[in-house]
Amino acid sequence: MVILPMSRRNLSFICQNCGADFSRWQGKCEACGEWNTLSEEGADRASSPGRRVRGGRLFALEPLTGEAHEAPRLPSGIAEFDRVTGGGFVRGSVLLVGGDPGIGKSTLLIQAAASLARAGHRAVYISGEEAVAQVRLRAERLGLRETAVELAAETSVEDIIATLSEGMTPRLIVIDSIQTMWTELIESAPGTVTQVRGSAQALIRYAKRSGATIILVGHVTKEGQIAGPRVVEHMVDAVLSFEGEGSRQFRIIRAVKNRFGPTDEIGVFEMTGSGLREVTNPSDLFLSARDPASPGTAVFAGIEGTRPLLVEMQALVAPTSLGTPRRTVVGWDPSRLSMVLAVLEAHCDVRLSSHDVYFNVAGGLRIQEPAADLAAAAALVSSLTNVPLPPDSVYFGEVSLSGAIRPVAHAASRLKEATKLGFSRAMAPESAPDAAGSGLKITNVTSLAALVTEIEGSQHEGLNSRIRRVTAR
Ligand code: TYD
Ligand code: MG
Repeated sequence: MVILPMSRRNLSFICQNCGADFSRWQGKCEACGEWNTLSEEGADRASSPGRRVRGGRLFALEPLTGEAHEAPRLPSGIAEFDRVTGGGFVRGSVLLVGGDPGIGKSTLLIQAAASLARAGHRAVYISGEEAVAQVRLRAERLGLRETAVELAAETSVEDIIATLSEGMTPRLIVIDSIQTMWTELIESAPGTVTQVRGSAQALIRYAKRSGATIILVGHVTKEGQIAGPRVVEHMVDAVLSFEGEGSRQFRIIRAVKNRFGPTDEIGVFEMTGSGLREVTNPSDLFLSARDPASPGTAVFAGIEGTRPLLVEMQALVAPTSLGTPRRTVVGWDPSRLSMVLAVLEAHCDVRLSSHDVYFNVAGGLRIQEPAADLAAAAALVSSLTNVPLPPDSVYFGEVSLSGAIRPVAHAASRLKEATKLGFSRAMAPESAPDAAGSGLKITNVTSLAALVTEIEGSQHEGLNSRIRRVTAR
């Protein structure tokens, strides 16, 4: 065994991407496979081997049968935000809100803080990135100047905790951002993994002790990971991710992890000149830019969490000039696309192996439900044949490898949403009994081949021959 001198022992090499800890420098992180991400940092004192351990304190063990309290929650007053947290902020909980720079994290959180302050709760906003004047300027633009949010531009965790421990415990503390915070207990520079972890740990301890809810803002790296890094995700009670396309106005917040609520709900916002506005009927928004007459688009009747959501799926199929045709997918699972393409080829005689396929979900939404298969297939066939689908029709159903269409959950609320938005037809699996009474003309499709035939039947000219003609190239 090699005995390292004391000064060496306190150093370790930490991957700045995943937080893995190594005793020696190496070019590649064995944990996450990234190159050149290891950097030397002083080990935190808590884990240094020389540390003296005090005798343990005795505590009482409790039986499982005993009083249980529903976690006390405080709604933020922003319904789309509360939907994602599961009904509001739980006392003593810590949330991490991640997202690309400029997506609107600071805007959303100052709005949430102001909303709580308006309801008479103490809300504190600590910015490590902007000066107080800048935060004020934003608040002014949002029309929140008059609210009692308390502001500070600070980065020392010890100073922040000492200040907040004075007086009444705040109900909500926003830390914008965790990457700018530093704690004296750790020697490494702010922004390093060890600092971010140490600062988060100190703030989490304060939240548990005081009962305040803390929201940590985290920047996302280009790979979509919350930088500085995944270790924080494991420590907090909920991880919310704030997404959207920079150029578009929609912003979607979703829970990636939530100890106190669901993880499949989304909250939808629109960025306006005066801050984020809640979108209570997202289907309207996602279908607003739709061109029903163009081929290659199909409306999917989806479910996000407990809420039905209609969204346009777009496909562009074009003959390829490449040896291996291109498959580009935005907003949907690429392996799901490959599967649908394979089933179209194997069971429906629709060949796309000599075509590039581009696939997009409108509005920057990310679809995870298998129920989207049928709508995706419809968009693909429509684009291949250059024949638009009926504009008043929605699609949902899961495609199985055998080419059969499987039933999916919540058929009734999908159909209800479609009716509400003025659609009159639906292509759906052999339906659940609760689907009746929606007022829609429902065509039950049992196989993907039947969908292709149905699209055929809705057209005057022989689409089938057209498919074959196109695919024969
Ligand atoms: P911001 O909340 O600062 O983003 P983040 O904290 O995630 O980096 O939002 C910045 C963007 O939002 C910026 O491009 C300007 C835009 N914005 C508006 O369009 N309207 C507004 O009322 C505000 C405050 C910002
Ligand atoms: Mg910000």
